[in-house]
Amino acid sequence: MREILVTSALPYANGYIHLGHLVEYIQTDIWVRSLKAQGHQVTYVCADDAHGTAIMLKAEDNGVTPEEQIASVKASHEADFDKFLIDFDNYHTTHSEENKHFSELIYRRLNNAGHISTKDVEQLFDPEKQLFLADRFVKGECPECDAADQYGDNCEVCGTTYDATELKNPYSTLSDATPVLRTSKHYFFDLPEFEQFLKSWTRSDNRLQVSVANKLQEWFDAGLTSWDISRDAPYFGFQIPDTSSDEPDKYFYVWLDAPVGYMASFKNLCDKRAGTENALDFDRYWAQENENKTEVYHIIGKDIVYFHALFWPAMLSGSELRTPTGVFAHGFLMVNGEKMSKSRGTFIKAETYAKHLHPEYLRYYFASKLSDKVEDINLDLEDFMQKVNSDLVGKVVNIASRSAGFIVKKYDGMLSEVCAEPKLLEDITKTGDEIAAAYENREFSLAMRLIMQCADKANEYIDGKKPWALAKQEGTEQEVQDVCSVAINIFRQLMVYLAPVLPELTANAKDFLNIDDLSFSSRNQWLLGHKINKFKPLMQRIEEKDLAAMVEDSKASLAQTDTPAANANTKSATTTDNDAEPTDYISIDDFSKVEMKVAHVVACNHVEGADKLLQFTLDVGEEKPRNVFSGIRKFYEPEQLVDKKVVCVTNLAPRKMKFGVSEGMVLSTGDPKTGLTVVTLPDACVVGDVLA
Ligand code: MSP
Ligand code: ZN
Repeated sequence: MREILVTSALPYANGYIHLGHLVEYIQTDIWVRSLKAQGHQVTYVCADDAHGTAIMLKAEDNGVTPEEQIASVKASHEADFDKFLIDFDNYHTTHSEENKHFSELIYRRLNNAGHISTKDVEQLFDPEKQLFLADRFVKGECPECDAADQYGDNCEVCGTTYDATELKNPYSTLSDATPVLRTSKHYFFDLPEFEQFLKSWTRSDNRLQVSVANKLQEWFDAGLTSWDISRDAPYFGFQIPDTSSDEPDKYFYVWLDAPVGYMASFKNLCDKRAGTENALDFDRYWAQENENKTEVYHIIGKDIVYFHALFWPAMLSGSELRTPTGVFAHGFLMVNGEKMSKSRGTFIKAETYAKHLHPEYLRYYFASKLSDKVEDINLDLEDFMQKVNSDLVGKVVNIASRSAGFIVKKYDGMLSEVCAEPKLLEDITKTGDEIAAAYENREFSLAMRLIMQCADKANEYIDGKKPWALAKQEGTEQEVQDVCSVAINIFRQLMVYLAPVLPELTANAKDFLNIDDLSFSSRNQWLLGHKINKFKPLMQRIEEKDLAAMVEDSKASLAQTDTPAANANTKSATTTDNDAEPTDYISIDDFSKVEMKVAHVVACNHVEGADKLLQFTLDVGEEKPRNVFSGIRKFYEPEQLVDKKVVCVTNLAPRKMKFGVSEGMVLSTGDPKTGLTVVTLPDACVVGDVLA
């Protein structure tokens, strides 16, 4: 029996759970349930990630203490996870005694081993709010192109990245005050010292997915740098211990104590279970010398690989604790092929979904999409409905509903003493080994395909035998019972295979089948001469109207939480800087204020001294051509764009830049960091025409 500890990333305590999050918790829960069904001793822990500036400010906004804020969010998270049948063995918070203890322990060990150093850091400080400003709380003019209202880390107009201190005319987004430069002492964790360790750690077998290991190689090539693990007061978190008396108010940066939260939640569970028959030994999972006795896995999103595959193992190794056996990342959720969007109603809260649709539909759909790869997965609502209806209702549940009636009515619930189709049943029993392997390897989509192939075989068998026709003939008593018994036996195998994904449906099926076990090995004992109970419908079809209602409700509930008048609880669930949520609605009037015209690129040139910009001369059907700068030099040679028809925003206020005045904006798509594509129009478009 393997002893395995599994975690999901800890959701931030300042936002609600949405369908994107659920990709992760459903994935982990299915994996854990499948490992448990194999008979392993598996423990699944998680917690709320409760510290940081964002949470502190959110509490302030809501007029509550940070403790009150995180308590109400934790309760809402737990309620959501419950609805989606996420079966944590423990759900804790990082704002806990256990976490304080282990964060301090790890820090002290790192410090004693010489892995912590200090350095003075100059940072923008909000004199009104009296706090240091993280990049996302400062705005100003881009030092490269002078574009207004740019954040403290990069310019959305020209794509330049810079330090917040380089912004021109900076202001605090918290108070509008002009920030001042202030120096303070920061504590750094010496990551470069761990380079050799990390290189071999990341390359050991099955530790990471190949694409993740390759990404890490890029980071190694770029060079590791020390990690700033301290923040100045005011901060909601743990104070750094043993700091000198002239620098008392230093806190651990939230990402220092967040992964420690995995250990803390586990410790909290060990304490709860002490003295019971399920007792867990903390050191068996975390002491370095026990590294080979137990397994520890972290399931995370692709956005937080750096923290889990570099900082975290380095912290553990440096403090003489065991490192994770594996860290597995998943991709992001798209809805209808696009990023989740509030205005399209596809930014769906877990709670809103659950009001309209059964959580097991989503569990199955995600399972049918998930693999061991770091790929984004798409929730196409139409496909979702079709797939669930055709696979689960049409194929799986149908097997039982077509056969159970005969058995119960005509044979008093008794299945045949002998299996009439042993080859078929053996085949399906054996496929279980492949299905188990697919679960183990987190190849859930493969597992679901294999299961549906089994269901297809059962339906073909029933269609071939036609028990409903047989039952009308004379002298077919035995045959009808046999055929239906084979079908019920296959259905039972399918319930074993689907139990990790559909815990509720399969638990109900267990009652109907009158069995007490759905573990993987239980399927080897076929149900012969066994009495079953009356069949009750196990799953309803998804109706188009329920989907539509969910989408509408999503639009409405988000619009509601976005208003300033919302109460403290709902407000705590609005956009945070941690969620990559899109912006709020604009009205049609706002939209029609933007004038976009078809423009002909008369000339396009490099700009001397600006390595990000191209300069355009655009004919937009006016008397004089316009001069427009665009931050796309990295992605285009000027001659590629000459003579093309592009889209120009023509009523943007002219912007004075270092290199001249920009009289508009050329539209492109993509990300200024990784690649931009200029939107070009068909030749048939007429220069000067307005886009609408
Ligand atoms: N608090 C950190 C994790 C700390 S772990 C020591 C955090 N929280 S989060 O709430 O933003 O995200 C929690 C998990 O959900 C992360 O693994 C994240 O990648 C995942 N997801 C959040 N939004 C997601 C999608 N839209 N799609 C898929 N997963 C997403 O990060
Ligand atoms: Zn710029």
